[in-house]
Order: sequence, then structure tokens, then C-alpha cells
Amino acid sequence: MKNPLTIRLCVDIFRSTKLLFVCTLILTACGKSNNLGVSANNTPTSTSTTNTIPIGIAFAQTSNVALLGQEGTDGVKIAEKYFNSKGGINGKQIKLIFQDTGGDEVGAINAFQTLINQNNVVGIIGPTLSQQAFSADPIAERHQVPVIGASNTAKGIPEIGDYVARVSSSVAVVAPYAVKAAIKQNPQLKRVAVFYAQNDAFNKSETEIFQKTVKDLGLDLVTVQKFQTTDTDFQTQASSAINLKPDLAIISGLAVDGGNLVKQLRELGYKGLIVGGNGFNTSHIFSVCRALCEGVIIAQAYSPEYKNEINAAFRQAYIQQYNREPPQVSAQAFAALQIYVEALKSLDQKRRINDLALRQLRQELNKEILGLTYQTPLGEIAFTPVGDVIQKEFYVAQLKMEPNGVKGKFAFLNIK
Ligand code: ALA
Repeated sequence: MKNPLTIRLCVDIFRSTKLLFVCTLILTACGKSNNLGVSANNTPTSTSTTNTIPIGIAFAQTSNVALLGQEGTDGVKIAEKYFNSKGGINGKQIKLIFQDTGGDEVGAINAFQTLINQNNVVGIIGPTLSQQAFSADPIAERHQVPVIGASNTAKGIPEIGDYVARVSSSVAVVAPYAVKAAIKQNPQLKRVAVFYAQNDAFNKSETEIFQKTVKDLGLDLVTVQKFQTTDTDFQTQASSAINLKPDLAIISGLAVDGGNLVKQLRELGYKGLIVGGNGFNTSHIFSVCRALCEGVIIAQAYSPEYKNEINAAFRQAYIQQYNREPPQVSAQAFAALQIYVEALKSLDQKRRINDLALRQLRQELNKEILGLTYQTPLGEIAFTPVGDVIQKEFYVAQLKMEPNGVKGKFAFLNIK
């Protein structure tokens, strides 16, 4: 019997959000359970009569992290359309369910709890920040719900638990490429100023790698300046660093704070090279530092030029929609959804996923995800046993701004 309270709740949800599929799923599940698709022993029930597979997307849609969250959203939406047009999961359509994480830990925790307990998703993509992942991923781990990070690059993310994997290569792998590219542009460079956002897990992790790389390459680390991702005024840090005459500045921050720091360094007269970390890896930074973004060097785990069938399809769909080249995070988010699609298809061929209770489906899906190899827009990827991405190709780009500072592009450098 379906619970009348649940039916009323579903009508309310449907009225307010139009999320019919959520109601379908809840009602289907309620046919075998006592409330909201969770059975008496607290085991979520089967998705057996639904014709859609719900996958949770926990990205930042609001806050100062929304610029990065938007790129993830763009990537998964293109992937949803692409894979559904190709028949979905052996005929069943995938249905993305979005929950806004905002920019902090509490927002990410709430988004994960809603996706897991109310939306009954089979797996989650997100959250946007590593800082959020360290708080939210343990919830998915406890519920045995697979999570694929699409933009979490801090050290230690896959180690959060058995159900946590990522397609976003670690800072430890990616960051050194940018420093080497800077040396290639200025072989005389010696004095390096490092800046980092001290209130953010990924930036703290990234700066450690940058600082180690600087020392390993025999450069002088002349200063380490700290700031907050919420700061807007960087005059003190920029002036202190400029006084030490660096010829390379390396910044680990997010797009808005990082972009403002670049702008203020240049306004105060800094003329040397600038390397930006992974938080700079978004064209949304153009509107922050505008013409003064010119020349910033950023390592990349994705190139729009990468030649394979799926990247050609992704790139074409992205350009058609946004009239610019796809950024790294959109490609990573696309790849994350592709992994769910291919793992679900593969699992369905072994044992029909419609016959699995949701709890079992999540468990089996997690094993499947970790066991396969995927041809994605990032190239061929697979996972280490702990769930870290194994990727072969990395790149470095340099920002090239049009003189009016409104438009810009990531120009890929030859780093061979
Ligand atoms: N790469 C950034 C992080 O991991 C967005 O937090």
C-alpha cells in the first residue's frame, strides 16, 4: 500500500518543483515500504518499475564558488542529453537531480543528505570543492552511495572511503607542469613568491605541491603569502611580495579571489610571470582580472584538442551551446556522468539493475565503476584501487586576453 502521507508529500513536491520523476520513484518505492522509499530496516527499496535512473548532482549553484559549480553543471547537462539520446542505460533514461551545495561544508552536507535519503539517487557527482568533499563524502560513504568527484583535486579525496572516487587528477600530479612551463618561458627565473588561500583544503594542498616543486627545481622561495577565498583586498600581500622582487608568482586560490590578486599584483607594478592553480581553471576568471589576466599560466587535465570520438562529440555540443571552447571542469563533469552510464550499462548486462534493491544497486555499481576503463573527453581513464583517477595526458595553457579585456582564451602551450 502506498502511504497517503507520502502521496500528499509527492503532490507538494511536484507542485513546487515539478520533479515528477522523484515522485514516481518515491511512490514506486513506497509500494514496498513504509515511508519515502525506505523500508522498515532502513534499506532503500528497489527502483524496479521506474524507467529513469536518478543520479545526484551536488554542485555549487550559489556563493562565490558558483562560477566553478556552473562549469560542472554545464558538463553533466551535456552528458545527460548525449547519453540519453544514445539510449541511456540499455533503454532507461538517466535523470539528473540537482541539489545546490552553496560554497561551504554545511551546504554540501545538506545536498548529499537530500540526494541520498529523499531523492534516492544511485550515485552522486560532486561536490564542487575538496573543502566540501571532506565533510560531505563521509555521509555517502556511511550510506554506501558511490560518489565521483569531478573537480576535487586536493590530496586525500579518494582515501575518504571505498565509495569515493574522482576523475579530477590530484594537484600533486598536475601542478608541477605549470611551474616547468614558466621556467621554459623564462629560463633565468629564480625568485618565487607563493600565495595561497589558507581557508580552503584544496588550496592548502596545492600550495604544498607548488612549494615543493619550487624547491625541487632549485628555485628560491622568497615569500609565502596567505589570504582567504573571501578576501577582495590583496594590497598587503601583493606589496610585501613585490618588495622581494620575485620573477614568478604562484597563486593557489579560487577564481574570484585569485583573479583579484592577479589584478592587484599587476596594478601594483608586478611584471614577472604568474602561475595560477587549479582554481584559476575557468573562463569565468576573465571577468575578474580582465586584460590583466593576460599571460597567467595554468596546468590542465583536459585539452579541447584531444582527439577521440567522445571528445569530438562533447566539444561540438559545448561549442554549439556556449560558443567557446569547453573548460576542464565541464569535461571532467561530463566524464563523471559517462562513468556512471557505462558502469550502469555494464552492470545491467551482468545482472538486471531493475531487479536490484537500491542499496544493492549502489554497492554493485561502486564495484563496477572502479573496475572499468573509459574512453572519455579526458582521454582513457581508469581508477586505482582506492578510487583515484589514472590519466595519461596533461597540458599547460596560458591566458590570452583581447585588449578590451572582455574576452579571452586558454592558449595551449607546447610543453614537450
Ligand atoms: N579543484 C578545487 C578543489 O578541489 C575546486 O577544491
